[in-house]
Parts: sequence; structure tokens; C-alpha cells
Amino acid sequence: MSLPLHLRNIHLPLGDQRTGRLYGKDVLSVAQFTRDDLEYIFGVAEAMRNMVAHIGTFDLLKGKILVNLFYEPSTRTSSSFAAAMERLGGSVIQINDVKYSSVAKGESLPDTIRTLESYADVTVLRHPETGSAAIAAQYGRKPIINAGDGTGEHPTQALLDLFTIREELGTIDGLTVTMLGDLKYGRTVHSLAKLLTLFEVRLNYVSPGILRMPAALVAQLEAKGRRQAQYDSLEPVMAETDVLYVTRVQKERFEDLNEYEAVKGAFVITPEIMQQLRPKMALMHPLPRVGEIAPEVDNDPRAAYFRQMEYGLYVRMALLAMVLGKA
Ligand code: NCD
Repeated sequence: MSLPLHLRNIHLPLGDQRTGRLYGKDVLSVAQFTRDDLEYIFGVAEAMRNMVAHIGTFDLLKGKILVNLFYEPSTRTSSSFAAAMERLGGSVIQINDVKYSSVAKGESLPDTIRTLESYADVTVLRHPETGSAAIAAQYGRKPIINAGDGTGEHPTQALLDLFTIREELGTIDGLTVTMLGDLKYGRTVHSLAKLLTLFEVRLNYVSPGILRMPAALVAQLEAKGRRQAQYDSLEPVMAETDVLYVTRVQKERFEDLNEYEAVKGAFVITPEIMQQLRPKMALMHPLPRVGEIAPEVDNDPRAAYFRQMEYGLYVRMALLAMVLGKA
């Protein structure tokens, strides 16, 4: 396929790339990526960003169909995948509310996957059970992209988080990344912490005692020689933090809502806290926020969370193009 690659000085590494590193592959966990893969994905994402800024849409995936299958609520992930597909000229079958699909009649995940992929080229799946994306991939013949499997992983979020850090701070090596909030149930921090092991970073975990980073994950990173430290409060690490990654307490994962009530307001980032953080740093959040970052912080130039969600579009465009053999 020949594409208008030199349109308005935009150079896109796009076209038929059936030998590409992600072509025909599932995206299930950050563990599948090398540093080299990340550089490639981010290069394509930069090209997508340029393309969107200058042309808006581009028929790279014309004729391709994506199934957006969401068994859990989503605003950003679902609509950015849909927008990514449409900006590349493809189309989307959107299943947001599985209670209106045959899932409500008791259909199994493997059967639902088999059904939908017979109409489409790639499936984006969000599901409440850890490991569900891997199960779907076992039964599916076409690429499955994990858009969040319970408390397990959210690999495309981690990719966009890393892309954000790189855009905001220019580098990843050498940084101190502090993760704050619900580190037990938050799948975004699980994926991001694992992905950051590919870089020379220091990790701080700040959370209430009952929401600590899972011990198995900490041990896994320890084995890779990563420096990690756990805290109950942000204070001791404020001065060294380059990236403060704030998360929502994941209410839907609590068995006992009294426990949720006890910890939900544990950390709130306010302008006063921002004053004590480095002048050059990035405040990130996968969103949605439910009180962890005061709206008064939004205009601080270090507040990167709205740019972060926009970067998600470019990273997901890059992933779709790669998985479908066009980048
Ligand atoms: C996150 C998720 O679903 O894990 N949202 C997202 O995809 N940006 C974070 C969350 O729900 O707290």
C-alpha cells in the first residue's frame, strides 16, 4: 500500500509491515516488551501524533474492524481505542454493556471471543478477572489486546504512561518514580512498575498499609535488581520524586466497603503539596480521579494527567497499526 508519506513534511514509518514485531500478536502483558520494542512503538506514536495534528485521519487501517469488548466500565481506554481505529480509517464494533449481549444469557468468554473475532480483525478486551485476556488469547485466533484484566495488568496504559514520562521529562533512565494510592488493586501500577524494570529507575511505593504493592511483584522486581522502597506517607520522598503517579482507590475490588471508606481519602494532592515537589517533575494519574488530586492543581504545568490521556490515543494508534501489520 502506498501512502502519502511526505504529506506536509510528515514522515510516517507506515505501510505494509507484515514482518513487524507486533504483527498478528496479542498484547497481554508488559512482560512481552523489550526496550527496543518500546523505542519502536514510541516512534510510531510520535508519527501518529504528527499525523493527527496535521491531517486528523489517515486511511492506514481502512477495511479493518476492531471489537471493543468491555465487561467493566471505561471512558478513556474504550473511547481512545475507538478513536484510534477511526482516525486510521478503520471501524469499530463497540460492546460496552455486556448485559445487552449474549454474555447475559450465560455465554462463556471463549465463545464470545470466537464469535466476535469472526467478524473483526482485532479484539480489545477489558474483563474483571485476572488472566482473562490470556484465556481469550488461548481461544482466539486473532490478536487480543488486554485493556485491563481485573487487578492483573493494563499493558497499553503502561505504554502510554511511559510515553508520557518521556514526553514530559525527556528521559526515563535515572528517574525516581513514586507511585501513590491503591497499589494493591491498581492494575495500572502493576503494569507500570514491571515495565519500568527495563530502565534504570528508583521506585517508591506510598500507600495505606492495606493497599501495599503485592509482595510477589515487589520480589519479582527485586530479583531484577530494582531499587524499591515502601512508605506510609509522601513526605519522605517528595524532594526526590521526578514522577508522582497517583491512583484511585479501587472501590469495586473491596469485599468490605468499610475498609474502602477507611482509606479512600488517605492521600489528596493539593497546591500546598505541589509547592513542596520539584519544580521540574510530572504529576500523573491514569484517571478517573475521585478526589486524589484537587482540581486546583490542574493548571500547574507539572500536572500531566490530561496530556497523558491524550498520548493514549497516539500510543493506541501505534499499537493497532503494528498489530495489524501496517507499521
Ligand atoms: C484505570 C483502569 O481501568 O485500571 N483506568 C484507565 O484505564 N485509565 C484506572 C482506574 O480505573 O482507576
